[in-house]
Amino acid sequence: MNLRTTPTVAETGRDLLRLRAELPGRVALVPTMGALHEGHRTLVRAARQQCDSVVVSVFVNPTQFGPGEDFDRYPRTWDADLAALAEEGADVVFRPGVQDVYGSCALGVTVDPGPLGSVLEGAVRPGHFAGVLTVVAKLFGLVRPDEAFFGEKDYQQLVLIRAMSRELALRVGVNGVPTVREDDGMALSSRNRYLDPEQRRTAATLYRALQAGVDAGPQGADAVLAAAHEVLATAPELVLDYLELTDADLGPAPVAGSVRLLVAVRAGSTRLLDNTRVRLGETR
Ligand code: PAJ
Repeated sequence: MNLRTTPTVAETGRDLLRLRAELPGRVALVPTMGALHEGHRTLVRAARQQCDSVVVSVFVNPTQFGPGEDFDRYPRTWDADLAALAEEGADVVFRPGVQDVYGSCALGVTVDPGPLGSVLEGAVRPGHFAGVLTVVAKLFGLVRPDEAFFGEKDYQQLVLIRAMSRELALRVGVNGVPTVREDDGMALSSRNRYLDPEQRRTAATLYRALQAGVDAGPQGADAVLAAAHEVLATAPELVLDYLELTDADLGPAPVAGSVRLLVAVRAGSTRLLDNTRVRLGETR
């Protein structure tokens, strides 16, 4: 039985600072843009397990959307989000307006993500990771969490936030949580609701391509990429943005050992991302 009550909602930085001061023990932060699904809920559960108090932020951050991207039509489902966060036992939900977050940013100071901010997703979405890191840095500053939780689903984002926390000595532990998937392997995403039924069926090809890559791991990098490309070719309606093997920090992949296989495609106007760990060149 769930005995938890509705979380307290903070709508301004000032409210948040007041509530934060009263939170006991180690504090976790789970940043989100709302439209919550089982993936987000899994992050909140991981946060609950590891910390005494859990703050969840719900903020559709305009600075990480490029011109012509889906900021205006990004799904906003506040009532359902709050109900989900009550079920998961969040203590505080921070739901600021754009003015609360950016009103005090008159001089335009931002976080530069460095070279990793302009590869993979960053090559397709210029400025995206500067927007992500800047808002996450601001959330870290307001909430001052001990630990923060992010999904491996957005692997490049996770690597960059971890690097930011380490390299700027923000002293927030950055925890990665494995991707939550549908029965057919499709990674849950707030953007999946943009897909029509036919696109949704085809989209599962992304996961099958990654699995083919995992299976080809013992034969080495070229075999992994060839196997994944072969599966993707069965769904020509998915337009490939990239399919790449990297090491765990998004540097060049070693010839053997644990690497990351990352893929992004477009299904109509919707971009779909996925990634997985692959063991290269090992037979066991
Ligand atoms: P959003 O897309 O709402 O995602 C919030 C968090 O949920 C991210 O850490 C994301 O990786 C994680 N997540 C999404 N789908 C998941 C899945 N299927 N399994 C596990 N985790 C999943 O990512 C953002 O928001 C924003 O960029 C943000 C970090 C909040 C900054 O604005």
